[in-house]
Amino acid sequence: MNSQSSQTMGQQSGRRSWAEPWKIKVVEPLTMTTREERKKALVEAGYNTFLLRSEDVYIDLLTDSGTSAMSDRQWAGMMLGDEAYAGSRNFYHLEAAIQKYYGYKYIVPTHQGRGAEHLISRTVIKPGQLIPGNMYFTTTRLHQELSGGIFHDVIIDEAHDPNSLHPFKGNIDLDKVQALIDQHGAKQIAYISVAGTVNMAGGQPVSMANVRALRALCQKHGIKVYLDATRMMENAYFIQQREEGYADRSIAQILREFCSYTDAAWMSAKKDNLVNIGGWLAVNDWDLFEELRNLVVVYEGLHTYGGLAGRDLEALAIGIEESAQDQHIRSRIGQVLYLGELLSQWGIPIVQPIGGHAIFLDARAFYPHLKQIEFPAQTLAAELYLDSGIRSMERGIASAGRDATTGDHYYPKLELTRLTIPRRVYTQAHMDVVAESVKAVYDARQSVRGLKMVYEPKYLRFFQARFEPL
Ligand code: F0G
Repeated sequence: MNSQSSQTMGQQSGRRSWAEPWKIKVVEPLTMTTREERKKALVEAGYNTFLLRSEDVYIDLLTDSGTSAMSDRQWAGMMLGDEAYAGSRNFYHLEAAIQKYYGYKYIVPTHQGRGAEHLISRTVIKPGQLIPGNMYFTTTRLHQELSGGIFHDVIIDEAHDPNSLHPFKGNIDLDKVQALIDQHGAKQIAYISVAGTVNMAGGQPVSMANVRALRALCQKHGIKVYLDATRMMENAYFIQQREEGYADRSIAQILREFCSYTDAAWMSAKKDNLVNIGGWLAVNDWDLFEELRNLVVVYEGLHTYGGLAGRDLEALAIGIEESAQDQHIRSRIGQVLYLGELLSQWGIPIVQPIGGHAIFLDARAFYPHLKQIEFPAQTLAAELYLDSGIRSMERGIASAGRDATTGDHYYPKLELTRLTIPRRVYTQAHMDVVAESVKAVYDARQSVRGLKMVYEPKYLRFFQARFEPL
């Protein structure tokens, strides 16, 4: 169809929808349960959605991590796994894909993101050094702390306000970085930790202008910029959609430019890269690479497999290429927007603007009658599960944990429940069912009581903590 006749059609029908750039070849049946069964499962799980059995879950929006559907090409690639201990052919495919799409020189595979975080934190942080970052992420900050570092949040203030419509709420506040340099000196800063998009802020992006300016500031002071590239493809999409001068650039081009302003990256390939397991480190500095390559042998596996099978490396190499396609990212984020816009239209409080990988329900606004220590976001996740069997995740006071020095709870400004959308897994009909369940829980919000924590693990407590109703 030529463009003129397609335009005419568009005007006639009044809408032009996008659709997923794939069709479904294999299906996996879902389990549906009764409210009574869910109540029993929830009590057994200590009101923590991480402790539910996935068989008791209907639509699983716990995380977008490792939950993607792989393509037929990726599954075919699994059969081409070269399971040699050393020098597997699939490693070289992966290396070439990262070099091509992300642009870094040297690659170290790891079993997942936190494996990469562990290695880089151990290698570059000296005890007592500061790591400024655009909001914390749970595992990232913990590895920085375990290496003796002290995390400092330098994200712009708007990121802590669920209602601010700033288009790049992941941006770094350069004045906050400058203040840290002035106060402590550049030598006290291990590196700047930049995540694109920012998970805990609601999947919010960083602008190209911001990372470029950050780069200039850091170069002046000899400070390295390291990137958490976990959801950088999604970040690139927001730059394409929202930042002047990028509308005609491809996702792949934007990604390359963004990465060029950073010195190294770590990756949880379980997200953007469309695989069920995997991670990597990528750096431009040979000396740093040598240290990482040496350390990976101690903690993950040889430097050409890093804890992964040859077949995993191959699926990952193909996943990188697929994830950088404009049509893929458009439909991936399009689905998140679809759910978010439905909820917004119904007046349900969510973090705005809608982010890349998830809808974040504003649990404070759901339950203004609950104190933060009564775990509003955890409560909301439990209520949603009870209503429909949909599994979500707390991203509030339970996730924030405790201050390592004082032992007090962190009280984060954002108290959120995350509906995380796996890539290429659910349909628009599933999104409708999710929205309707959220609406039902919202309508019943006034009668809800909070939770108390009755078991608290030492590290990353949200994964295994147990709760009881107040
Ligand atoms: N960085 C970011 C921004 C992440 O979101 C995650 C994981 C990691 C690093 C760690 O990677 O899980 O492969 O070890 N986030 C998951 C989530 C767990 O549900 O948001 P990992």
